[in-house]
Amino acid sequence: MILTPDAERVRTPFRLPLFTTQRFSMPTYVTTPIYYVNAMPHLGHAYTTIVTDAYSRFRRLCGDDVRFQTGTDEHGEKIAEAAAKAGEAPQAYVDRIAAAFRDTWPLLAVQPDTIIRTTDAAHIKTVQDILQQVYDRGDIYFSEYSGLYCKGCERFLTEKELVDGKCPDHLVEPKAIAEQNYFFRMSKYQDWLIDHIKSNPDFITPERYRNEVLSFLSEPLEDLCISRPTSRLTWGIPLPFDANFVTYVWFDALINYLTGIGYPNDPDFRHYWAVAEHVIAKDILKPHAIYWPTMLRAMELEPYERLHVHGYWNVDATKMSKSLGNVVRPKELVDAYGVDTVRYFVLREMSFGLDSSFSSDAILARHNSDLANDLGNLFSRSLTMIDKYAQGAIPERESVFQFTPDDRELMSAVSAMVVQYRENMDGFRFHKALQAVWEVIGLLNRYIVTNAPWELAKNPRQGDRLRTVLWLLAEALWKIAVVLGPVMPATAQKMADALGMGNEFAGTVIDDALNWGVIPAGTEIAKGTQLFPRLEKLANPVSASVPNPAKPAQQEAAAALGEGLISFDDFKTVELRVAEIVAAEKVAKSDRLLKLTVKAPEERTIVAGIAQHYSPEVLIGLRVIIVANMKPAKLMGIPSQGMILAAKEQRADGTEKLVLTTVAGPVAAGSRVA
Ligand code: MSP
Repeated sequence: MILTPDAERVRTPFRLPLFTTQRFSMPTYVTTPIYYVNAMPHLGHAYTTIVTDAYSRFRRLCGDDVRFQTGTDEHGEKIAEAAAKAGEAPQAYVDRIAAAFRDTWPLLAVQPDTIIRTTDAAHIKTVQDILQQVYDRGDIYFSEYSGLYCKGCERFLTEKELVDGKCPDHLVEPKAIAEQNYFFRMSKYQDWLIDHIKSNPDFITPERYRNEVLSFLSEPLEDLCISRPTSRLTWGIPLPFDANFVTYVWFDALINYLTGIGYPNDPDFRHYWAVAEHVIAKDILKPHAIYWPTMLRAMELEPYERLHVHGYWNVDATKMSKSLGNVVRPKELVDAYGVDTVRYFVLREMSFGLDSSFSSDAILARHNSDLANDLGNLFSRSLTMIDKYAQGAIPERESVFQFTPDDRELMSAVSAMVVQYRENMDGFRFHKALQAVWEVIGLLNRYIVTNAPWELAKNPRQGDRLRTVLWLLAEALWKIAVVLGPVMPATAQKMADALGMGNEFAGTVIDDALNWGVIPAGTEIAKGTQLFPRLEKLANPVSASVPNPAKPAQQEAAAALGEGLISFDDFKTVELRVAEIVAAEKVAKSDRLLKLTVKAPEERTIVAGIAQHYSPEVLIGLRVIIVANMKPAKLMGIPSQGMILAAKEQRADGTEKLVLTTVAGPVAAGSRVA
């Protein structure tokens, strides 16, 4: 709220009566995963960190006392191997890559309060203290174990997690390992964890991930192997009770969330731990939703408050990752589009929880359409009119009794937007928060057209009306600047500066955006501020391999229908056909795959993962439905040209039953299904 002695010129700000959302100052503690230093930062890392930064800034805007932590995960087999490959000593290697992560954050306008490293002496000591404590309580024991280990995941995988015998994330077969190790009695806490998840619906969100964890927990939980023998790995934290072993990297890494806030003795620990929120992608759901809460329980600590799980950024329908070599670098994006466009794009484009595809076309479309066109034009147009018709200063408005229904409707819509924005930011629905802002931007653009200030300016008797229209535009733009602050900090500051409110901006809280009459009349504005220059398609797009980039028009159509729905045009891109199975045989060395020859009407080979559900001989003559325009893929070295549709039934025991889809009457092979 602006206080000024010039009471003649400034009216007291007022608030539309409907919306009061008072919130008391609270602590917020939010973390990103700590990133492995075996790879340079890419868009996937950037996304989680931008989300967490935007959320931190949003919480600050709500008046909270925020602690935002990120960091790097520097121990373990993967890192030791990467250092050896780079020909560097592990410590020198991790120092170098950790610095690359640290240097990336300012480029993305990300401002963490703490950047923790697992090689920090304080972290190492805390991990050892915790291990000793859990060991003394009898929750760590020594035993022999054999299992399938995926080095990429740095954990043992269960048979059920494998797809075609491979880790679905790293596309490699896990290694069978048998050795003596220390184990954490995770199974002891299984019932408690199930109860906790069931009685706290917000503990893991979005809901699909909560369900995934509960489904996983419907089977007996195994104990967690938490050591690695030094004969195999030395790059880790030595176990305090056995020098022949180092700590398993996940048991070490998860504890960063405690050490960063000074566990156990720092007052910050009590203050922030009670409200801890972790942001991760679905790849590390299991360690965060199962290992971590049970570890905390064993330490007699409260679990974190919320776990926010997002999907993957894909390129060519495959997760972007270093091991797959399809990465998009944050610096290249920032250089090409500007930091605020990158932040806006990732938050607006991805529905938090679902996967998204990155493409240069999509980011360019968002930049030119949402930013340069909708917001940028609205802003420069409004300021130009204030300059021209109100001598470059915020005009005095009419009495509130003179507001037209159009004015009141717009003001209600702006205040409602602030409330929706707040609810959606709080619920990690960033795309929806931004949709609400852009709806208001659309309304403002229409308000200009219907109220035509250039016409009002021609008639001196319309002076009061003209000033009210310009006043309302300026006030609404100020509110838009306030809500965009967490997403596009530099743009929002630029908007505030141009509106003559640059100095007030830093101290603004979201409730101020519910007040009207905030900018003092007479405040000078700066016309000619261009927020986003239009960009041409790059000659060398940042990502060359783009899987059918969704066209903006199609996206809008989908948005109009509702989240997650597709248009008929989208559906038509999938070519479904009836196919007759003419031959079927087991694929050697695979217990899941069958090699099928089908007529559709041409003859093709399809490799299908149905061997556990159908024996080959029963399939001959069956007419099934296939996706005929699937990109060919090789499975166990056999080229597969299409995909067979099957219903998947989740059985009560957690296993899956597959039933092929067939047609209900006689129909020729090759017939189109639509
Ligand atoms: N070191 C562990 C985390 C320990 S936390 C106690 C780790 N590191 S990682 O470098 O592999 O980072 C994984 C995280 O990076 C994901 O959970 C996600 O936050 C981010 N992403 C990496 N690739 C991603 C995509 N392709 N898409 C979206 N986010 C991704 O796991």
